[in-house]
Amino acid sequence: MTEKILIIEDDEAMQFFLSEALKKQGYRVIPFLDAESAFIWLEKERCDLILLDIKLPGIDGIEAIGPIRERSDAIIIVITAFGAEKHALEAIRKGAYDYFTKPFKLEEMEITIKRALEKHRLRRELEALKQRARESMLFPNIIGQSRAIKEVLSQVARVADSDVTALILGETGTGKELIAQTIHDHSPRKGKPFIKLNCVAIPEGLLESELFGHEKGAFTGAVSRKIGKFELADQGTIFLDEIGDMALSTQAKILRILQEKELERVGGTLPMKVDVRVIAATNKNLVSEVREKRFREDLFYRLNVVTIFLPPLRERKEDIPLLVDHIMEKMSKASGKKIYQISKSAMEILTEYSWPGNVRELENVVERAMVMVEEDTTVITPSHLPLHLRGLPEEIIFEFPKESASLDDAVSAFEKELILKALYKTKGVQSQAAQLLGITERSMWHRIKKYAIDIDRIKGLQDL
Ligand SMILES: Nc1ncnc2c1ncn2[C@@H]1O[C@H](COP(=O)(O)OP(=O)(O)OP(=O)(O)O)[C@@H](O)[C@H]1O
Ligand SMILES: [Mg+2]
Repeated sequence: MTEKILIIEDDEAMQFFLSEALKKQGYRVIPFLDAESAFIWLEKERCDLILLDIKLPGIDGIEAIGPIRERSDAIIIVITAFGAEKHALEAIRKGAYDYFTKPFKLEEMEITIKRALEKHRLRRELEALKQRARESMLFPNIIGQSRAIKEVLSQVARVADSDVTALILGETGTGKELIAQTIHDHSPRKGKPFIKLNCVAIPEGLLESELFGHEKGAFTGAVSRKIGKFELADQGTIFLDEIGDMALSTQAKILRILQEKELERVGGTLPMKVDVRVIAATNKNLVSEVREKRFREDLFYRLNVVTIFLPPLRERKEDIPLLVDHIMEKMSKASGKKIYQISKSAMEILTEYSWPGNVRELENVVERAMVMVEEDTTVITPSHLPLHLRGLPEEIIFEFPKESASLDDAVSAFEKELILKALYKTKGVQSQAAQLLGITERSMWHRIKKYAIDIDRIKGLQDL
């Protein structure tokens, strides 16, 4: 990576002379004639080193060091006029790395810059390494090095300690539940229950008893006492999943319990205090749900104390290879199988794809590919990936083998792929898969044996 050097120098001849010399050394040079405009630039951009003239119009070099330090961790080297060394010493006291007095020898300047940058680079690398080690030690199950994921992790670290209500937003499969669980596991409530409540899955009529529990005989069918989810979560955390899809009547009930921090079992007589931390998640845009009056505004404000946004996978592509490695390792461990690898071209396809189902879809694709990999190899190649990832229409099923293969081998490979596809389509139901291919169940069974297809694994995988 080209290192960036800022030159803040009002003498245009000097500015030009330094710029040209440093460009020749391979640096990227950004010139400024005064300190104020450099401050504005530093608000948004990063550089590695700053050559700062002491005598400047407006804010002078000495005064500029403080504001620069606030905006950047770049090395500062000051340039001062001959005979004004006392300024240079003051600059160093304020945080400059070194100084030069005019006139100076260009070679000396170049060597100093080179050494300073080297030192700076090592320091930054060490910092990054330490930071990564800290984070991955804290949250080893959350994979990713993208800026976005790092931001999420530091938010998780910040909210975990407290009891603050967190709202997790993100498309389907981005890891909302994983984050909720991680917050709980790093909070003082760890070891206490983490109770998940899927807000849509509960039929309206059963809702109240599901949330609050009921006493024996509270209604027909209440043959014994039931403890509700909120009571189960006492001392722990309740995870309200899919909160954006929750019926308005449920919203009212949840709001009440959040406000009063007490509940009453259906058919019960006394209200009970509960102490729960709430984490909610949704893939809906809650702001527009509130606008459309499908979500209560008061509940929204109660939940939305801290918002954690999980960006879609296509916006953090650099995490894809790390996630793929992680998934392969997890799968290999779980099945006691060999270590898998992935070819460069297959990884490229995975990185390019847009992943509407995000990490969950990636997991499914990688798991599926691992099942598809031939017995004698352990390398995932593009042929093991679903066609739509490769930009091919579903009808084209067969690719001519690249290496020369015998006709029998090619036909077998084709047959295996077709059988696997049919089994995936039917979620591993052999009779249906046989029907799809117009063969008998017996003949399907023979082929499953012949190709050593792991039918249980296919059944276990979710539909792509
Ligand atoms: N950063 C990550 N590192 C490792 N695994 C991840 C990461 N993000 C997601 N996963 C995995 O992806 C799968 C989907 O994650 P999760 O169930 O948390 O998503 P979700 O946002 O709750 O999805 P949905 O909206 O569909 O409920 C899980 O198996 C989870 O462990
Ligand atoms: Mg979820």
